[in-house]
Amino acid sequence: MKQLFALIGYPVGHSLSPLMHQAIYDDLGLDATYHAFNVEPTALKEAIAGLKALNVAGCNVTIPHKVSVMDYLDEVDEEAQEIGAVNTIVNKNGRLIGRNTDGSGYLQSLTPVLPAGIEDHRVLVIGAGGAARAVVSTLCRNRAMRIVIANRTLAKAEVLAGLFSRYESDVLAMSIEQAEKELAAFDLVINTTSVGMSPNVRQTPLSLDLLSARAFVSDLIYNPDETLLLKEAKARGNRTLNGIGMFVNQGALSFEYWTEQKPNRAAMEEAVRHFL
Ligand code: ATR
Repeated sequence: MKQLFALIGYPVGHSLSPLMHQAIYDDLGLDATYHAFNVEPTALKEAIAGLKALNVAGCNVTIPHKVSVMDYLDEVDEEAQEIGAVNTIVNKNGRLIGRNTDGSGYLQSLTPVLPAGIEDHRVLVIGAGGAARAVVSTLCRNRAMRIVIANRTLAKAEVLAGLFSRYESDVLAMSIEQAEKELAAFDLVINTTSVGMSPNVRQTPLSLDLLSARAFVSDLIYNPDETLLLKEAKARGNRTLNGIGMFVNQGALSFEYWTEQKPNRAAMEEAVRHFL
């Protein structure tokens, strides 16, 4: 029987996940379909009960349901609890288990292009929202040497840093202005905010004036594929990474959790790039 995978969000009409997952099924010759469902926040509880009743094989969760969905699942794994959000629901013999592949998907895209292990990096994370929390969690789990969270609203960065005090990594908060002054002390700069995303492509989250020549600059945004931040970094001669790899890897990991099969990440990326 054809397997059904789903995405729930509101709105989800613009999502590239269906075409990216279709690329996996085409590559593996799998009889499966991935459907994006527009689920209004008031209908979330019923939607989750529906997934269970219909025995949907696996489900992704996107904005605005990533946090609220946790209330309706049978279990939420430790990593997703730490991130405070679920982007993947695994159906294990009828039990719905919440997981989060955003942070590990991000790291899978980053580590192959970094010159050294993440444990040797002093990292500046810009932003203190949901995406930042996933990234900081992964950086801590993989023992990044030092993590500074800089945010427009400093108090939010302080709260986020406080969540990770039990880790070996040195995690602290800073204002954007302070981070700009101390920029030379970072080997890796990661933008997790939406600043620079289409259509506001002329904005950058901070000035790169004092960026070290050896620093790596990464942006979670993939539309445009090169944000102004990455353009400016490249113009200075720094190496950069956009968010396509994170998007592909978070989806690939979801598929692995659902099916215990390895998807063809290159085919997934090709489908996304072709569309963009
Ligand atoms: P996500 O889940 O994508 O991380 P979020 O939780 O809404 O989304 O977080 C958005 C992040 O982008 C926040 O860090 C936000 O800064 P504030 O905490 O000060 O709101 C940041 N952000 C969004 N728009 C911004 C802007 N125009 N300038 C600076 N930071 C911005």
